[in-house]
Amino acid sequence: MKLLMHSLSLSLVVGCLFATSVSAADAKAGEQKAEACVGCHGQNGNSNSPQWPKLAGQQPTYIETQLKAFKSGHRSNTMMQAIATNLTDGDIDDLAAYFSSQKPASAGADAILAKAGQPKASMCLGCHGIQGEGKGQFPRLAGQHPNYLVSQLANFKNGSRKSGPMQGVVSSLSDQDYKELAAYFGSL
Ligand code: HEC
Ligand code: HEC
Repeated sequence: MKLLMHSLSLSLVVGCLFATSVSAADAKAGEQKAEACVGCHGQNGNSNSPQWPKLAGQQPTYIETQLKAFKSGHRSNTMMQAIATNLTDGDIDDLAAYFSSQKPASAGADAILAKAGQPKASMCLGCHGIQGEGKGQFPRLAGQHPNYLVSQLANFKNGSRKSGPMQGVVSSLSDQDYKELAAYFGSL
């Protein structure tokens, strides 16, 4: 019995070590695979153009969902669909592990717009996190390029990007609200 307990705890320890090294290897493998992404999304996923969303510090579950959505065509974008088509589920996991573990840098924003957006943002924090850091399927908004955020809000409104929760949220917002909210989150 004592021997059994020993071998049981040994296998638990080995199991844990294995799990740790696997997830470390994922981000490492993801770093190499990310060479195909950094030309647009920037070194470490901190792109410096609003054309390309920042991926650094983005929630891993969200990154996975979006890559699968581009792959299936649920989210449409010519560039990303061409890229996601060639990714396996393993690649997607590795890339999500890599980008989510990178340190996000704030995009910055117009201070006056950001100040006007702050009180309006309270209606977003329940899902997107108190600091806009996101959680699980809810994306990080903090530090993202304001112009990218505005473009996505417009896509939800015109229905070219589909999400039940977000379509409900944007229906009552104006273009000015988008700019202010995007500036607030981008400034974090
Ligand atoms: C040629 C430029 C280009 C390359 C290369 C590229 N992307 Fe993208 N990516 C984009 C654009 C543009 C968007 C925004 C699409 C939109 O407006 O809906 C995007 C969006 C994304 C998103 C969604 C981000 C969000 O906040 O919703 C993810 C995740 C993503 N890309 C991951 C990757 C990964 C991983 C790679 C490498 C395997 C990659 N991209 C390579 C241009 C690129
Ligand atoms: C009920 C939960 C909920 C609330 C409240 C909410 N969101 Fe979202 N939001 C989501 C979900 C879920 C997604 C991811 C949609 C998808 O998978 O495409 C999302 C995605 C987004 C995106 C796209 C981010 C990216 O990287 O492409 C933006 C921008 C956004 N939300 C802004 C806001 C703003 C601004 C508010 C407040 C006015 C808000 N959201 C309130 C659930 C919510």
